[in-house]
Amino acid sequence: MTKPKFYITTPIYYANSRPHVGSAYTTIVCDVIARYKRMCGYDVAYLTGTDEHGVNIERAAEKAGVTPQQLVDKNEKIFRELWKLLGITTTGFIRTTEPRHALAVQNLVRRTMRISPDAIYKRKYEGRYCIYDNLYVSDTPEPADCQICGRPGELVSEENYFFRLSAYQQKLLDLYKNNPQFLYPDFRFNEVKSFVESGLKDISISRKSVKWGIPWPDDPEHVFYVWYDALTSYMSGIGFVDGEHDGPEFKKYWPADIHAMGKEIIRFHAVYWPAFLMAAEIELPKQIVAHGWLLFEQEKMSKSKGNVAYPEPIVKVLGNDALRYYLLRETVFGQDGNFSREALITRYNADLANGLGNLASRTLTMIANYCGGIVPAQVPAPERLNEIASTVLHQKIRDLYNGFNFSDALIFIWGLIELVDKYLVVEKPWTLAQDPSQKERLESVLYAATESLRIVSVLAHPVLPDATRRIWEQLGQTGRLADVRIDELKWGDLKAGTKIGKPEGVFPRVDKKEALERIENMENEIRNPGSTQPDTSTTTTKKTTEGASTGTSAAGTAAIPAGAPGAGGPAATLGTGAVATAATPAPAVPAKIGIEDFAKVELRVGVVKSAEKIAGADKLLKVMVDIGDEVRQVLAGIAPSYAPEELVGRKVVVVTNLAPRKMRGVESNGMLLAASAGPDGKAVLCTFAEDIPAGAKVK
Ligand code: MSP
Repeated sequence: MTKPKFYITTPIYYANSRPHVGSAYTTIVCDVIARYKRMCGYDVAYLTGTDEHGVNIERAAEKAGVTPQQLVDKNEKIFRELWKLLGITTTGFIRTTEPRHALAVQNLVRRTMRISPDAIYKRKYEGRYCIYDNLYVSDTPEPADCQICGRPGELVSEENYFFRLSAYQQKLLDLYKNNPQFLYPDFRFNEVKSFVESGLKDISISRKSVKWGIPWPDDPEHVFYVWYDALTSYMSGIGFVDGEHDGPEFKKYWPADIHAMGKEIIRFHAVYWPAFLMAAEIELPKQIVAHGWLLFEQEKMSKSKGNVAYPEPIVKVLGNDALRYYLLRETVFGQDGNFSREALITRYNADLANGLGNLASRTLTMIANYCGGIVPAQVPAPERLNEIASTVLHQKIRDLYNGFNFSDALIFIWGLIELVDKYLVVEKPWTLAQDPSQKERLESVLYAATESLRIVSVLAHPVLPDATRRIWEQLGQTGRLADVRIDELKWGDLKAGTKIGKPEGVFPRVDKKEALERIENMENEIRNPGSTQPDTSTTTTKKTTEGASTGTSAAGTAAIPAGAPGAGGPAATLGTGAVATAATPAPAVPAKIGIEDFAKVELRVGVVKSAEKIAGADKLLKVMVDIGDEVRQVLAGIAPSYAPEELVGRKVVVVTNLAPRKMRGVESNGMLLAASAGPDGKAVLCTFAEDIPAGAKVK
């Protein structure tokens, strides 16, 4: 039997800058829908792409000193790479600079002029235009601000091709009336209806003063208005040619089942686009689905406002699933939502590490330890887990997915996780395992827990594709989780005798401060390349973030405080503060310094009270040093040279007036002096041959 088709699109993204978490939101949501629909048995096409024409691209390229083509080539790659990193399962990607697209746009307008000769005409236009949102802000030359971004519109005064939108008012209202599901959510649909009811003006669909665009057929002095160009990508991306010679994909998937987008561009999709298609006699998309904005510091996250968070650092520190889960769980779809890195990490630890991750590892470990790694005999769902087995509840969760209510779907699924946790607490399989007479009971408890884990993995898969797939494999399941039918899920499909895989944690807990610091550092690096120490904790490069610069014996420069000339240069400094960043060249060190410069540095004798390694940092030791009137915590990059226990009782030289600094989320309050020499730069701590009390000044 052939599968029903389902075609979903994201807007194509402006290729003038790199994507941020706000832009990624649309793509992630569509990916959840696409994955979910596949699990319901649909043959899904999912299209995204880049919007590469227009004044904003022209200007951004000019600013960067490159050609528009070079700029979009560079940014298009960043988009593609990000979608790969985020596990986005698009089936197509369209760039508006591709020839197949240009042809489709020109053919669409030719077809329109042939079928509806009155729909397009030429006249002089004078008004204000926002180059950032590509919106005609007003039809008069008086100054006016953009309704989307608030920036002043630029004056445009030129001859343009116009689309007779005014003639489509009634047809659009009929469309809305006959298709009550045409726009989701309802309150946005009502706004659109009022806008159309209040009367429509014709819109300009070509520009004469812009060069970077698709030429108008037979009138190449004009290029297409970017929205006419961009909207056509939904068809050109799946094989539209001219409505008569289209590719098989277009014939199969068009019309789109869902065009998804943020609220600011609803009008283009729910008013202009259907009118363009009506005039060309092409079938209309079935549904427009709009989400709210991700706000960051109370404003729409957007690069021009400088209030953006980037997805890559989050994925690097917490994994792809963490970002997907957070965005879908925290924001009620359709409403605006707040983005906060702290809340993201809190959710990660609470719901993913302690919730699903913990359930998976404890259940699988018990199967490994108490059942020899083999799933025990099948049992019906125990009463306490009835909800998990309930196909009514499964249907409820599917209804929530179908209704774009992702946060509630996740709340229900996490309610199931809580049920299993409680079930295990009550049944205490770890106690049952101590008593051979309870073997049968133990096995039925563990079957029930493992089967619950399987069901939860299926239900959560569209949102958490990576972790659930790993759990699926650890559950010993053959076949792809993505191919499992979520609408055929039922208790008992976990086969007795299945050999489980090696239990491995899917969401390790993270230290909040440390994770935050790593995310922020990586984001700074994206904003200002070369400004921060690269985070190498999950890469193989030799550089570390620990600040262990042990490559010289020039002890004289060691004591130059951070911020002073020479700070950051290679030195015998092993603590903190005066640490060379990998990408920032050290300022030139003057050949000689005056005594007054040296006197700025406070050096004291310290006695090491304790030392220990820092988790996840190969070179750092946390050293507690008595400096006479207090015991200081100092981080030193000497782990390759000293075992922690060797250091206790040793007298060292401490720089005591350095500003505190955090590494790996741990504060360092000073610096230990050391020399280093030889090819491997082994550190040798400065110390004293004679007896000297802690706290004595070193001058
Ligand atoms: N190029 C047009 C779309 C043309 S489609 C025929 C465009 N591009 S965009 O890059 O500005 O936006 C792409 C998507 O990202 C849109 O769905 C937009 O709403 C979304 N977002 C960009 N910033 C956002 C937030 N801060 N929050 C949520 N979504 C946001 O518009």
